Amino acid sequence: MSAIVTVITYGSFDLFHEGHYRLLQRAKALGDYLIVGVTTESYDEYRGKLNIVDSLMERIDHVRSTGFADMIIIEENVGQKVQDIKKYNVDIFVVGSDWTGHFEYLNKYCKVVYLERTKNISSTMLRAKNYRILRMGIIGSGRIASRFVPEAKQVSGLNVQCVYNPNSESASKFAAAWDVDMIPDLDEMFRSIDAVYIASPHETHYEYTKAALEHGLHVLCEKPLTLNKAQAEELFTIAKERKLVLMEAVKTAYCPGFNQMLGIAHSGVIGNICDIDACFTKLESPTNRELTDLQYGGSFTELGSYTVLPIIKLFGSNYTNISFSTIRGENGLDLYTKAHFEYSTGIATAKCGLGVKSEGQLIISGTTGYIIVEAPWWKTSYFEVRHENPKDVERYSVRFLGDGLRYEISDFVSIINGNNKRAFKLTAEESIAMAGIMERFLKETRNT
Ligand code: CTP
Repeated sequence: MSAIVTVITYGSFDLFHEGHYRLLQRAKALGDYLIVGVTTESYDEYRGKLNIVDSLMERIDHVRSTGFADMIIIEENVGQKVQDIKKYNVDIFVVGSDWTGHFEYLNKYCKVVYLERTKNISSTMLRAKNYRILRMGIIGSGRIASRFVPEAKQVSGLNVQCVYNPNSESASKFAAAWDVDMIPDLDEMFRSIDAVYIASPHETHYEYTKAALEHGLHVLCEKPLTLNKAQAEELFTIAKERKLVLMEAVKTAYCPGFNQMLGIAHSGVIGNICDIDACFTKLESPTNRELTDLQYGGSFTELGSYTVLPIIKLFGSNYTNISFSTIRGENGLDLYTKAHFEYSTGIATAKCGLGVKSEGQLIISGTTGYIIVEAPWWKTSYFEVRHENPKDVERYSVRFLGDGLRYEISDFVSIINGNNKRAFKLTAEESIAMAGIMERFLKETRNT
């Protein structure tokens, strides 16, 4: 052992509490020099801790203000502990007894000490105490609603308790499968909940969202929020007036990998962004609703929210021109659509197919390089930044958990609880712009 005894410990230290204080106090007493690793938001996301309230800087400030830490570092990934222990010549690794047995592998490098956890206090308890558990209902009981329930279980702070569908047979099956109540009367459901997830057919989103907002409920609505711009504007106005959260559930917008990729695209590593090419195809049976609903079916209304998203996020809503090319089936619905965008600074294409298969890539081209996100880029977990020299490649991989709906659900709960820092991922203006694009598409391609 070195003359000075160096101790290290790690944690999220969210909503700093007495348990954290006592842990740090005892850790410091074990040696002469205490290093505290505080987890980054992205590492916590990676670990599935999606509900952290305090920012990294706030958590660092809280640790610092105890006066016990001689050095504060940030913990960014799962393999970092071994490196830190070697780097800082650590003698003792300390953690609370809730982790007993987890860190035996570190015995090779230093002494591992589990300190008894302070009873009856945790960040989880404080989060539950500070924020009332949201009672949530679901409208619609199809495939996407079924994916929502298990994902919602991964997020603390909400409880999915009931479902409504005018088709009571479908609602009953759903209620039985997911152990929620089926409520046959919409007003009655609205009276029993704080928030609603709308997963009904596209054309019903506007009415349901409006009704829910007017009942004072927060709304998470499946994409497309509406098929016309004025309706989207009206809904966001009502939400704002009533201080309610209205969010469009385009899952890609909330997932960590996609957000990291956007940040890198904006950072200048590929120079000025000139072209965006986003493609998403998913073959559907010609007898399915998506290809038989003559008014609201077709590839663009179904998948366009995904492919338009990176364009709106990177180029904004002020395109100078937009046009659509479609390949139609016998019933006139688009089996494949290319939306062409022109901006003062660049061009973009959003390609969607339900009856044509293609490579589902996202390529963002700039003056000095490009970003390629392979399929399924809408669940971004890996991407590359490439340059003129083919050997000059930066690779990024980001964890994507489960079906990915947990990210939008976690942001929805967090924003309701007042954490507006997460609201940038898909803004009202961006959702309104996307509704405007849907409206334009329908006007130009349907005889309605
Ligand atoms: N800790 C403790 N006593 C408590 C709570 C936490 O000794 N009552 C310790 C943990 O064992 C860990 C450190 O404090 O060594 C940081 O833990 P962290 O996970 O940030 O805190 P928790 O309150 O356990 O957070 P959560 O409820 O989110 O898991």
